[in-house]
Amino acid sequence: MSAMRAPLIGVAKSAVSRTGSRPVALTGAASSVRFNSSNSSSSDAKTHFGFRDVASSDKAGLVGSVFSSVASSYDLMNDAMSLGIHRLWKSHFVSQLDPRGGIACLDVAGGTGDIATRILDHARTAHGDRQTKVTVLDINEKMLRAGQKNMAQTMYWGTDQLAFQLGNAEDLSLSAPPTQSPASISQQHQQQRLPRNSPALPALPTQPIASDSLDLYTIAFGIRNCTDIDAVLREAHRVLRPGGIFACLEFGKVDGRQLPFLPALYRRYSFDVIPSLGQVLAGDRDSYQYLVESIERFPTQPEFARMMQRAGFTLAGQPEAAKWGIGSLGGETGKRDDDDVKGAWQDLTLGIASIWHGIKL
Ligand SMILES: C[S@@+](CC[C@H](N)C(=O)[O-])C[C@H]1O[C@@H](n2cnc3c(N)ncnc32)[C@H](O)[C@@H]1O
Repeated sequence: MSAMRAPLIGVAKSAVSRTGSRPVALTGAASSVRFNSSNSSSSDAKTHFGFRDVASSDKAGLVGSVFSSVASSYDLMNDAMSLGIHRLWKSHFVSQLDPRGGIACLDVAGGTGDIATRILDHARTAHGDRQTKVTVLDINEKMLRAGQKNMAQTMYWGTDQLAFQLGNAEDLSLSAPPTQSPASISQQHQQQRLPRNSPALPALPTQPIASDSLDLYTIAFGIRNCTDIDAVLREAHRVLRPGGIFACLEFGKVDGRQLPFLPALYRRYSFDVIPSLGQVLAGDRDSYQYLVESIERFPTQPEFARMMQRAGFTLAGQPEAAKWGIGSLGGETGKRDDDDVKGAWQDLTLGIASIWHGIKL
């Protein structure tokens, strides 16, 4: 276990209204990648895929098909569905974390690189930091390729600040054959230094992520797509060093306390407008139908905070977190039953999206 260090991430500063490695089978049907892990749920266990009940073992493949299908239109659709607001949420998510000081970050389900770009931009522009490193990890090759294309336009391309890898958030100890031993993020960035002026996109490795090796773990709009959310959280806890921060940006449940008609209105928009936009802009109604259903199935803000707690995180809003500079995010539902996790999250745009912070102590 590495020694406990104070966070190099300034989450408290801006409380804005704020291994062993195991081989993995890569079956590249339609460029969606299937990771077989002994941690995966057994094949007869059931989970949900949107509103459908499916075998747990099938979910990753189904989610893979969705993201392979939407990868090329993903950025356009995000802008259309949210009227560009997702950009503000992502920027706020990162600036609130205030990454700096040459930290090691893992952006899980990092897809098109939106969070990684913002982390590196923030560290550089706010702190003159060109040492902070981000690995973008995603299960879907097409999404990562879209991310590489986006980030090839940035100054980080070809430097050891940036690496991409295929991986499953539910088991970050996985490696592609031949089996590799866990490498630190720094070693991985050295190994994967991307060619600066090469037109070819570099290969996407799958490397195990060592325990206690990261300062910051981010996951934005990714965790609800995973089959076993508890496993994702346990893995996040394992790979963070003591003092490391877990930060999640995900769709939340709209708060109807001030405007009681709002949740129904938002639901109407989600189910009536978004699949039709998917049809018109991307020729793909079904994938966007899944996306809105998956939002509906995701736990409430306090439920997700309790899942983080069960995985071992100390939540923002708890006195022990405050001692480490992790301030309350202010979130509360007004129900006394939820007071135990008060402050663990922050609602954005009336709870359409939310941010949760936890620290590994
Ligand atoms: C809605 S996109 C979010 C992309 C990006 N983080 C953003 O905010 O724009 C969800 C991503 O989660 C990825 N994903 C789904 N299940 C995953 C898993 N088990 N492990 C890693 N990534 C996963 C998908 O491939 C997809 O790229």
